Amino acid sequence: MSNINNIAVLTSGGDSPGMNAGIRAVIRSGIYHGKKMFGIRRGYDGMVQGDIVPMDAKSVANIIQRGGTILKTARSDEFRTVEGRKQAYENLKKHNIDALVVIGGDGTFTGASKFIEEFDMPIVGLPGTIDNDLNGTDFTIGYDTAINTVVEAVDKIRDTAESHDRLFVVEVMGRDSGLIALRSGISTGAEAVLIPELEVDYDAIMKRLDKTRKNKSSRIIIVAEGDKEGGMVVAEKIQANFPAYDVRLSILGHIQRGGSPTCMDRVLASRLGVAAVEGLIEGKKGEMVGLICGNIQFTPFNKAIKHIDKINENLTRIVEILSL
Ligand code: F6P
Repeated sequence: MSNINNIAVLTSGGDSPGMNAGIRAVIRSGIYHGKKMFGIRRGYDGMVQGDIVPMDAKSVANIIQRGGTILKTARSDEFRTVEGRKQAYENLKKHNIDALVVIGGDGTFTGASKFIEEFDMPIVGLPGTIDNDLNGTDFTIGYDTAINTVVEAVDKIRDTAESHDRLFVVEVMGRDSGLIALRSGISTGAEAVLIPELEVDYDAIMKRLDKTRKNKSSRIIIVAEGDKEGGMVVAEKIQANFPAYDVRLSILGHIQRGGSPTCMDRVLASRLGVAAVEGLIEGKKGEMVGLICGNIQFTPFNKAIKHIDKINENLTRIVEILSL
């Protein structure tokens, strides 16, 4: 058992739906366990600036259903410097904060690891990113909401594609990861999905488009943002290959990051938030808490941020098989 009394929570990197549910779970479980709780605004930047506020059960009321993050988020250049981190540590000491919960992605955990190395501060992480690109959890907080947003948008695009006999290339988020593209591609009946993890075989895609049902009215190709060429070039290549097609490009952008979290993201964030606080109390340090096959698991930050391939090639096969 550790000797932790005062715990602070922050959100960092890109926001994701469910971060608020995570903040609520951390604050309330800390209070439940008799700890004094704090919020740090604007991620590591707020830590450097001393933007730290005490939080109680009421300060997280009525936020479980809200997208974004009430604590705000930022990417901090100052925290990348030794002086910045020293200043941040001094600010924590002013409030006698002796442990942290950080909610974010790989950049957040890289910053946390550095801070632990230098100040031996107990820190536990919650995976908060729509990209689902972390090892040590089946799903990250925000991913489920984001893919449901994509599905809703692509279903609408399909209506227009079908009415006008068009082929739409839809670019979705995922800087280094094709997980949003792959899952939303299967669930919208996409004809092809292009992701950064797999080499794109244009010949195969063109053949597939040519070979599949000639009387298809609409076609959807989902391209992950991290794809080497991106949606624009993919659309141009398809148009050049099939001049008779009416090809359009739609880039979904930041609508994928906002909105009210799904039930799955709320439950995930609530479970992980409680587990993070209890993990800290039990002496965990430098680990991310995740859910694997329904069970809580802790994974060291350096393993969580390794972008090991979560792509299941069976899923890419399914896209092909079902595109007939
Ligand atoms: O990290 C999540 C993510 O949504 C990526 O998929 C995307 O590339 C990036 O954030 C965009 O970040 P920003 O809001 O800084 O443009």
